Amino acid sequence: MRVAMLTGGGDAPGLNAVMRAVVRKAERVFGDECLGFLDGWKGAIEGRTVPMSVETMRGTLARGGTVIRSSRTNPFKIDGGPDKVKASLERLGIDALIAIGGEDTLGVANKLWEQGVAVVGVPKTIDNDLSATEMTFGFDTAVQIVTEAIDRLHTTAESHDRVMVVEVMGRHAGHIALWSGIAGGAAVILIPEEPFDIDAVCDALRRRHEKGSYASIVVAAEGATPKEGTMSLLTGETDQFGHVRLGGIGQRLSEEIEARTGYETRAVVLGHVQRGGTPTAFDRVLATRFGIAAIDAVHDGDFGKMVALRNGDIERVPLSAGVGELKLVDPSLYHGVAEFFFGG
Ligand code: F6P
Repeated sequence: MRVAMLTGGGDAPGLNAVMRAVVRKAERVFGDECLGFLDGWKGAIEGRTVPMSVETMRGTLARGGTVIRSSRTNPFKIDGGPDKVKASLERLGIDALIAIGGEDTLGVANKLWEQGVAVVGVPKTIDNDLSATEMTFGFDTAVQIVTEAIDRLHTTAESHDRVMVVEVMGRHAGHIALWSGIAGGAAVILIPEEPFDIDAVCDALRRRHEKGSYASIVVAAEGATPKEGTMSLLTGETDQFGHVRLGGIGQRLSEEIEARTGYETRAVVLGHVQRGGTPTAFDRVLATRFGIAAIDAVHDGDFGKMVALRNGDIERVPLSAGVGELKLVDPSLYHGVAEFFFGG
């Protein structure tokens, strides 16, 4: 078979590990020929590919990013886009496509499957907010990076008697903020699922500082929002999937906290550092399992499916399940565990 792959949306550590696994089994077990579309759906529309083989994928297991690059191009927002993708597949003699991405990429894959394209999906997002799978690769790495950053921020915050507001990724769901905030001993964690009251945030910090603790870490997901629009936020442009470019909550919070409490406060935006660099061992293993499962699905002719982690096993679920509801944080982890340490 001739099997093509593409990676769409924001990159995540582990993408190369998925493709390395696909290629290894495709070539060595099934005798397939693999290739990659460059720049996500953009390359599929334009028919730009690179050959992918066991040899070209050597040394990529530990490498972050994606060797075939990514984009946020949506073929359904481009005139004739879906037909152009189908024409590329036809012209290149591709029998199956493995689309690796988050809800947007998998949403496109699902629509193309409904139009007759032989496609299998692999879920990816550092945000870990896809409900069809218990875990996406990249999340563990992001949490590790943020936790290490918080550990470092603790010592400088203590030295200067400051509040440090750490803005992390997560526009719809606060998994990264919650996990790293718990792991890093944050005094307050703010997530999109729980609109915050700035007065309560400041009270928690006062409680802590009045007890004699001279430094506090506030972890805020980029999508955290104040209750009833009490604080204005910066918003940016929108991509082809309708997502607004976020950023700014950390700085706004830091100004507000300093003004209300008088505690010197600094904002740190971790941004794309969270997505860069080498994947953790956990993410490499999960990505490898997903890659093997994806090429198996291709050879079973089980198209229109995505692979997913369920009860510790890799299963196949309809692509439509991957683009349904977002997986939000478990309220019991926020209220029953994290909140217990707020202002402590
Ligand atoms: O979708 C993954 C993600 O990392 C989000 O957490 C974040 O909001 C977004 O991508 C950032 O997108 P970009 O890399 O296009 O700025």
